[in-house]
Amino acid sequence: MTSGGRLPRPRGSPRRVLIWPSVPIPGQLYRHLLVYQKILVYALVLVSGSVTQSASDVETGLESVARAGGRLWGLERWFVPQSFRRWTEGMPERYVMDLPLAPPVLLTCSPEDCRALFTEREGALLFGEGLRRFAPHEAMFGHDAIAALDGEDHTRFRRRLTGAFHGEALKGYEAAIAEVTERHIPEWPRGTPVRFGDLMHELARDVIATTVFGVTEPARARRLGAALDRLDRALNSAELAGRFAAAIVMRGWWAPYPRIRSIHEEIAAVAREEMAARRRAPDSERRDCLAHFLSAEPDDEGFMTDEEIIAALRVLVVAGWATTATTLGWLAERLARHPDALAGCERDAREGGSRYLMATVQETLRMRPPVPVTLRYVARDHDLNGLCLRRGTLVAADIERMHYRPDIYPSPHAFRPERFLEARPGTYTWIPFGGGVHRCIGAGFALTEARLILQTILRQVSFAADASAGEPSHRKTLITMPRRGATVTLRGASCPA
Ligand code: HEM
Repeated sequence: MTSGGRLPRPRGSPRRVLIWPSVPIPGQLYRHLLVYQKILVYALVLVSGSVTQSASDVETGLESVARAGGRLWGLERWFVPQSFRRWTEGMPERYVMDLPLAPPVLLTCSPEDCRALFTEREGALLFGEGLRRFAPHEAMFGHDAIAALDGEDHTRFRRRLTGAFHGEALKGYEAAIAEVTERHIPEWPRGTPVRFGDLMHELARDVIATTVFGVTEPARARRLGAALDRLDRALNSAELAGRFAAAIVMRGWWAPYPRIRSIHEEIAAVAREEMAARRRAPDSERRDCLAHFLSAEPDDEGFMTDEEIIAALRVLVVAGWATTATTLGWLAERLARHPDALAGCERDAREGGSRYLMATVQETLRMRPPVPVTLRYVARDHDLNGLCLRRGTLVAADIERMHYRPDIYPSPHAFRPERFLEARPGTYTWIPFGGGVHRCIGAGFALTEARLILQTILRQVSFAADASAGEPSHRKTLITMPRRGATVTLRGASCPA
């Protein structure tokens, strides 16, 4: 994929669907089943409301904390972020959200709470278990992914991956990121409104596939691209949303999902072939993640078995795709409406600078963090910064609310990259990548990628927007995206390199 052709575009969706336990059913019937599944989930939600309330009052120890009212409506508002933000605006920095049939969730935007949350080391607060119970990560990444692990298992696996994300390794990815971007730019329409987020989705897929897998053999690259596109459709399907809702109700038990499992198998098959090809013809010049993983000898600390490498590649591709694509979409959406900031970025792009570009990426991640909250599961009774949390509670660092605190970010609704020229982002106040031992392993990669892609783009095109103040956002499951796909008009650059 580095020098080979671009990855193929998605083709039509399948007519027949497999559901557990692997029964093929016609698409028409399947759509009906989905509707029934939704009705069932909503019925459970309504019936369970009062049960949840009384159970949580008895068990959680959170009686003193403010509660966000209206269980069902809280859940509904989650998918309309503006409404959710307005709803929680008057709440104190800690509040509890009661959701039907789900454990109570404590949301906090206190820097002290986040410090306590991210630095807990005794195994009382678990990220993997939090995701299993309250996020679709098990289906997305598989149960063996790094994010699903906690404690020693997590430390061991994470240590093996870090070599691929050190400063030197990141430098090695830069040429490929710029090259893939250069290849995409000429295909973008000029002078007419375009959903830039969609273009970024394709670009980010090719960048992440190139830098993580580095598949160059064209047929294999096409298969990988097709598998990633199928995975993307599956991850955005009503089928996954229904299973996600059911998993919340079932306290983290995920029904087997053959559709995604078969896509994971296809990705694994490509990875196995790629590894075999590289062992037959070693090339020390390669600079992708796979090359880093394969370079470890069996006695090295970073050595991974082939199956571990496959699990690592899968999670890196999935975790690094939609998040960075969304960030790039928001960057264009913000810059098209802020000519001074756009001029600052163009100046950097023209002069080969990076400070203003990086500050702009940081400010975009402050105002529009793709991941709005990150979770920990309370595995045993725990004192969080003076608050007694009972086992079974979920705690969420409220990333979005933290980033809009006026005492930390004066005029928080103003897009002002300069604030990050004046001061470095705070460890527990600027948290788009979470924190502590589970802090996003790809944070440095994502920042480098966004800065470099923006720089490469602005050398050839610039952004203009309609007269609206900004695009509203929306969520399908976790990621907060521009509702109109970051619609901008591309025109010739004012700063050719
Ligand atoms: C702007 C882009 C990105 C955002 C906003 C983002 C956000 C996050 C967040 C919030 C977490 C949870 C951290 C915590 O709770 O402490 C996370 C974890 C993770 N991210 Fe990212 N991410 C991005 C890009 C990437 C990229 C490019 C990769 C890989 C190439 C990646 C790989 C991972 C992995 C493997 C984890 C789990 C880490 C662990 O459990 O130790 N992410 N990310």
